[in-house]
Parts: sequence; structure tokens; C-alpha cells
Amino acid sequence: MRRSSSLFPAAAVFLVLILAAASPLQRSHLMGIEESLSSLSGWNPLRLRQKGSDLPLQEKRQTVNCTDLSAAFNSQCWQELQLSNFLLGGGQWGVGWNKSTRVCDSQSADVNSNDGTNCCLPGEAWTTCFLRLAQGGGTQDCSQINAQFCSMPSENALSAGLADSIRPEVQYIQKNIYALNDFFTTYYNALTAAQSDASTTIQGLINEVDPIKPATFNLITLLTALSVGLAFLGAPSIAVTVLGLSSLAKSAAQVLTISLQQAPSTAKALWPTGTQNSQSVQIGNLEAELGNSTNQLADMVNNAVQLLMSDMPTFVKFVESGQYSGAESLSLPSKVEGLDYALRTYMTSEAFAQNGWVSTPMIGPFETVQDVENAVIGGGGGDCTMGNNSVCTNGQGSALFWSQPTGRVYAFANENAGLVGVDAYQLLQDTVNNNWAILQVLFDGSFNCTQEGNFGDSIVNFNWDGTLDIACISQLPTKVECGAACPVALINNQCPFPPLNNDCDS
Ligand SMILES: *[C@@H]1O[C@H](CO)[C@@H](O)[C@H](O)[C@H]1NC(C)=O
Ligand SMILES: *[C@@H]1O[C@H](CO)[C@@H](O)[C@H](O)[C@H]1NC(C)=O
Ligand SMILES: *[C@@H]1O[C@H](CO)[C@@H](O)[C@H](O)[C@H]1NC(C)=O
Ligand SMILES: *[C@@H]1O[C@H](CO)[C@@H](O)[C@H](O)[C@H]1NC(C)=O
Ligand SMILES: *[C@@H]1O[C@H](CO)[C@@H](O)[C@H](O)[C@H]1NC(C)=O
Repeated sequence: MRRSSSLFPAAAVFLVLILAAASPLQRSHLMGIEESLSSLSGWNPLRLRQKGSDLPLQEKRQTVNCTDLSAAFNSQCWQELQLSNFLLGGGQWGVGWNKSTRVCDSQSADVNSNDGTNCCLPGEAWTTCFLRLAQGGGTQDCSQINAQFCSMPSENALSAGLADSIRPEVQYIQKNIYALNDFFTTYYNALTAAQSDASTTIQGLINEVDPIKPATFNLITLLTALSVGLAFLGAPSIAVTVLGLSSLAKSAAQVLTISLQQAPSTAKALWPTGTQNSQSVQIGNLEAELGNSTNQLADMVNNAVQLLMSDMPTFVKFVESGQYSGAESLSLPSKVEGLDYALRTYMTSEAFAQNGWVSTPMIGPFETVQDVENAVIGGGGGDCTMGNNSVCTNGQGSALFWSQPTGRVYAFANENAGLVGVDAYQLLQDTVNNNWAILQVLFDGSFNCTQEGNFGDSIVNFNWDGTLDIACISQLPTKVECGAACPVALINNQCPFPPLNNDCDS
């Protein structure tokens, strides 16, 4: 357990008594709602245990009662308790917590507004302040992953002076703060495990496509491809069902995807856009270099966590789907199968690109295997019999990949004349069999990315509606035959797809 709770529950009753006795009125307005102090019996941290033990679990779960402090957490309660309004204002909650909570003024003679007991310190993350006021003291700071002081107190102890009327709301918000921190902390830990898996897997690919000149990678791009992990799995263009993910990975991916869509600024904090100068990494040093960059990876994840914990509107959007309010934990295990799919797909596409492999699209739509086979027969001596993984050979060192969802067919071949070595069909089979990359993302991704005019820029982009666009994870070049019509709309009067061999005049 990385968390420990020092205060609760042993010392809780004692502490509660002291605090309540010492300053009864100062603790009654976390919300700025002036209510008479709840009686000492109003909150007993041991109550949860007492009640819980004589109620069967089943019964407790049948109906959702969000105001019952002894009931299990429920994902409907963020909505039901109107917690977005509670924080930001609106509806029954008036101006909301943010506006009703004072910012401390150290010059003030009033003890209530100068020492942080009843106010937020200037520049303090709102969550740090919220937890202190909710718990009636102590230091909690959840604005970083692997935080030293971010331990959910057992029994969710709340300050004795908190008005009864807002206890359920405060308890739920407190729970969301801890759940988010825990989610990102366990995500980061799982990513550091995934990166060494990916490096090992990809070494086999490099040996096959790249025996002489080792491919090099941009470190920041590698870290982006790594950290996009779960969001990649949750992207609508990824057929999650074919990946054989655990149910936990699936639901965590879905939850993260929804949250990022609601709060795109979080995704932007995680994955800064634009190309950045960064160190380039040789494949042979990959494992060591990635292992050496865990600080950089932690910085990326921390950028997102800090934003959430210090920017209330972003936090609210991120959690308001209710997924972090439920009883089910979103804590990830240290190893999440498939978390490195984005990284592997990026590295594979990059290794292909650096060794002369290109894709050339045919826009069908090709709806059936027959459509694909018919389109090839007789064409330049080629032939297509659909083999495994929607790949057919096309003779003369090239292979065809059929993407069923988009109805497109891509010819996969090497631009370097006289290349001796691995055969195109076999290379794609090995790519699937060794889990180096997902062919659909490799080919459709590159096509989409180029069509959108994003090829060669950031590997993570955002659609107009804030959703994540992972097409550019594939950096396999997609090019068109010299003189062929541009298959898509021109961008600035130019076909976004470059011609094969870069020069149509020769
Ligand atoms: C929910 O729980 C609270 C606190 O135990 C109780 O006062 C209230 O009546 C309950 N509401 C329903 C609908 O059961
Ligand atoms: C309320 O929100 C404003 C704007 O985001 C911020 O400057 C202020 O510090 C917040 N107040 C508290 C108590 O968090
Ligand atoms: C590419 O775009 C098509 C729509 O044109 C979409 O159906 C597909 O999921 C996208 N694939 C990727 C990998 O971006
Ligand atoms: C990793 O970092 C250490 C300390 O900064 C450095 O000495 C070492 O050369 C680095 N290793 C690689 C492979 O970059
Ligand atoms: C497809 O895969 C099966 C088993 O994995 C193999 O026996 C068969 O030869 C493969 N077919 C082709 C055309 O590669």
C-alpha cells in the first residue's frame, strides 16, 4: 500500500472533539452557509462501520441514496447531488463553493481569514484547500502523482464542524479528488512498466526490417506515444474488441476517453501539440533511454493532474460523468495488457518509414474480399488471394492490405529499388503475429493523418469537438502513384499525398 492514514480512525474521535470544542463556529461555513453547528453526535467516524456491519451489502445497493453517508458510493451521485453546481455555483447551491470560500488575507486581524483554517491560501490549489476545510485541518495535497500527502482518510472522516446539510456533497467531492489522483498515479506506474515491454517487443521488428542501420526515434514523440496509451485504446477508431484487453483496461479506457472529451484542456496539458526539438534515441538504447526519461513522463502526467487539481471548471468537466464517484475503483494494476499498443504502432510505423516502406491507397470502396481480389487480377502481373489478416500478396514484392471499416485497400511496398530481405506479405503477417502494430491503424491512420494535413506534425491531435485524433500515431508514409488523381480534397491547391519516389518528372 502506498498510502497510509495516520489520523484516522484511531485518533479521529479525539481530534473531532478537540476541534469542535475549540472553535465551534469557525467550522460551520465551508460553503459559506451559516448553519448552526451540528451536534457532536452528528458525525461519528465510527458510524460507518457500525451501520455497515448490520446491513447486508445487497440491500444497501438496491436503492441509491446519495445523502446517506453510510451507503456505498454510487456513480449517479455527482448528478443527483448537483456537485458541479456545488463547486461552481448554480441551482440550489447559489454562488457555489468557489465564490463562497474566502481567500486568506495575511494582513487581516480576523483569525478566520488569515491562517488557512477557514480560507484558502493565495495561490493554493483549490483541492488542497478543499480537503483541509473538509477535514478540519491537516495537510492533504493531491496535485501530483505519487503524492506524499494524499491519503483518503479511512471512513472518509469529515470535520466535526461541517454542517449536516453539506456532508454528503463534501464527502463525494473529496472522494473524487482522491480517485483522480489515484487513477493518474496508477496510470503513470503502469506506463513505466509498459515501456520496457514495448522496447523488448520492438527489438524483434528492428532485427527484421532494419538489420543494418538502426532506426532512431524522437524522445518526446516516444513519450507521447507511450503516455497516450489508454486514450488510444479508447479512441473510437480503434476496434477495442480485437485487442483482447482486460475488462478493467476497457472500462478505464472508456472512462478516460469520456473525461478527456469533456475536458480537452487536460489532454492538451498531457500532450503538448507542435513538434519539439528533442533528443533522438537509437533503437539499441531505447530501453535505457526510456527508463532514463521517467521524470519527463512524470512531468507530462503531472501537468494534467496539476491542471485538474487547481482549475475547478476543468476538474468539474472531467469528473461530471460520475465515473469517479462510483464504488468501483479505477485503480490500475501495475501491468495493463495492451497499454503499449500506441507506442508499438508508432515505433513500427517509424521503423518502416526509415527503411523505405510506403503505403499507396486505392479508394474503393471495397466491400467484400471479392471486390479486392477482382480489382487486382490482371493488373501488371499481380495477383491477390486474400490471406490471413486481410492481407493478400500482389506479386513483385508488394502486398495489399484491405481495411474493412473504411473499405480502402493499401499497397505496401518498398521504395528502395533492389531491396533484398524480407518480403512484404511476410512482414505484415509478422507484424500482426508479433503484436508489433495494429494494421488498421498503421494504414488507415496514416491515410487519415495525411488527408487532414497533419502528417509529420504531432502524433496526437484534436478534432473540432475536442475529441482525440490518434490517426498520426502512424508515421508510415502514404503516397500516390505519379500522375494519379489525388484521392482526396486538395489542401492549398496541393494533394496532401506526395508522389511515390518524390519526383514525377524523372
Ligand atoms: C437517505 O438517507 C438519509 C440519511 O440516512 C435519510 O435521511 C433519507 O431519508 C434517505 N432517503 C431516502 C429516500 O431513503
Ligand atoms: C475561485 O476561482 C477563481 C477563478 O478560477 C480563483 O481565482 C479563486 O482563487 C477561486 N477561489 C477559491 C477559494 O478557490
Ligand atoms: C480514418 O477515418 C475514417 C473515416 O474517414 C474512420 O472511419 C476511421 O476510423 C479512421 N481510422 C483511423 C485509424 O484514424
Ligand atoms: C541515464 O542517465 C544517467 C544519469 O543522468 C546517465 O549517466 C546515463 O548515461 C543515462 N543513460 C542513457 C542511456 O542515456
Ligand atoms: C494463415 O494462418 C494459418 C494459421 O495461423 C496458417 O496455417 C496458414 O498457412 C495461413 N495462411 C496464409 C495464406 O498465410
